[in-house]
Amino acid sequence: MRILLGVTGGIAAYKAVLLLRLLREQGHAVRVVPTRAALEFVGAPTFEALSGEPVSTEVFDDVPGVQHVALGKGADLVIVAPATADFMARAVAGLADDLLTTTLLAARCPVVFAPAMHTEMWDHPATRSNVATLRERGVHVIEPASGRLTGVDTGPGRLPEPEDIAREALSLVDASLVGSTPQDQSQDQSQGQPQDQSQDQSQDLPQDLAGRRVVVSAGGTREPIDPVRFIGNRSSGRQGVALAQAAAARGADVTLVAANLAQDVTDQVDAARGASDRLACSVVRVESTAELRSAVRAAGVEADVVVMAAAVADFRPAATPDAKIKKVPGQGPAPIELVENPDILAELAHERLRPDQVVVGFAAETGDASGSVLDHGRTKARRKGADLIAVNAVGSGRGFGTDSNEVTLLDGAGDVVGQASGTKREVADAVWDAVVKLLP
Ligand code: CTP
Repeated sequence: MRILLGVTGGIAAYKAVLLLRLLREQGHAVRVVPTRAALEFVGAPTFEALSGEPVSTEVFDDVPGVQHVALGKGADLVIVAPATADFMARAVAGLADDLLTTTLLAARCPVVFAPAMHTEMWDHPATRSNVATLRERGVHVIEPASGRLTGVDTGPGRLPEPEDIAREALSLVDASLVGSTPQDQSQDQSQGQPQDQSQDQSQDLPQDLAGRRVVVSAGGTREPIDPVRFIGNRSSGRQGVALAQAAAARGADVTLVAANLAQDVTDQVDAARGASDRLACSVVRVESTAELRSAVRAAGVEADVVVMAAAVADFRPAATPDAKIKKVPGQGPAPIELVENPDILAELAHERLRPDQVVVGFAAETGDASGSVLDHGRTKARRKGADLIAVNAVGSGRGFGTDSNEVTLLDGAGDVVGQASGTKREVADAVWDAVVKLLP
C-alpha cells in the first residue's frame, strides 16, 4: 500500500519515526511529508533514510512533478501523526500553504489524524469543534491516549503508540480480496475457512466488466449517540458483498465501502484474502453516514458505476457528547434531537461525479396502507434519479440477514426493466446484467 505520512510540529514527532519504521517493516511504501515546524523536532535525513524517499515541505520543490497534487492522488492512505491543534485548524479551514495541506486537499483516499497536544488544548472548544468538523467530513480522528505529556503533567492528549495508530489506520483500508478462484477455494476449504459456494460460477462468467471501475457500498451505517451507543439498522451487508464479488468475478476493479458488516460476512471477505489478483477488491471500512458518504464519493470520482446497496441512516443525533449520557433515576430518558443526513444516492444521481457514470440504488420496502412494495419503489426511483433501482420486500425475515433475495429492477422513470430472485449472488449478477446494458 502507498501511505503518505504527514508529520506536524509537536514533540511527539519523534514517535512518527517509529511509526514510519513499523509501516516500512510491514511492507508499505511510505512517503513522509513533514511541515516546517515538524523539521524543528526531527530532521529530514531521518525520514529520508527510513523511508527511502525524498522529503520536502514545500509546494515549490519538484514543480514539474506537480507534487502538491500527485502525492495526495497517488496515496492509498494518508496518516497525519502527530496532528497538532494548529494543523487541524488549518485543515478545517482548507488552507493550502505547504505541501502537506495541499496534499490533503488532493487526497481521495481515507485520511487518519492522530492528534497530540496538551489536555487543555485538546479540551478547548475550538479544538473540539475542529475535530467534530473533520469527523463530519469523513476524516478518521483517533482519540488521543491518556498519560504523561511533555512535562510532568498527565492527561488526555498523548499521541497513541505507533502500533495502535498503524492498526487503527490500516483497518480502514484493507486491501483484501472478496473473490477467489475455484483452485483457491479448494485450498481454503482444506483449511476449514468459510466459503461462498456461488464462487464456482466465476470461471464461466463473461468478463463484461473488465476495465471498469465500480464502487459498491454495503452494510448499515451507525450514527453515534455518545461514545457507547449508536442508532443502527439490521443490514448484514450480504447483498452488497455479493455485488462486489460478482463484479470482481466479471473483471471489474472494485472498491467495497463496508459499513458494519455482520461478523460472518466480514469473515467471508477476510477468508478470501490471498486469492487471485483477477478478483482483487479494495475494502474501505466505515461506520457513520458521513464516513460512508466521504468514502463513496472519494472512490466514485474514478468510477464507471456506483451501487448504493448500504442501508443508510436517514437521521443522526444533532450532537454527540464526548462523555456517556448518564441516566438520572426517576427523570425519564433525555430527549435525542435528530437531524437529517444527506441522501447520498440522490446526490450522486443528480450531480454525477463523472459523465456517463451509472448510478444504482436499492429500495427496501415493506408496503403499507398507502401503497404496495412496488408503488413505494416507483416513487423512490423517480425521487432519487438513479439509473436503476432494485426494489425488494423486507421485514418478517425477508431481505435482511438471509441468503436469498427477490428484487424488481426499475429504471429512473419507475418502469420495470427486470426481475431476479435466488441467492444474493444470483440477484447480484442480474443487477450487473442490467448495468452492463446501460454502460456506454
Ligand atoms: N440512501 C442514501 N442515503 C440516505 C438514505 C438512503 O444513499 N440518506 C440510499 C440507499 O443506499 C438505497 C436507497 O437510497 O440505495 C434507498 O434507501 P431506503 O432506505 O430504501 O430509502 P430512503 O431514501 O431512506 O427512504 P425511506 O426510508 O423513506 O423508505
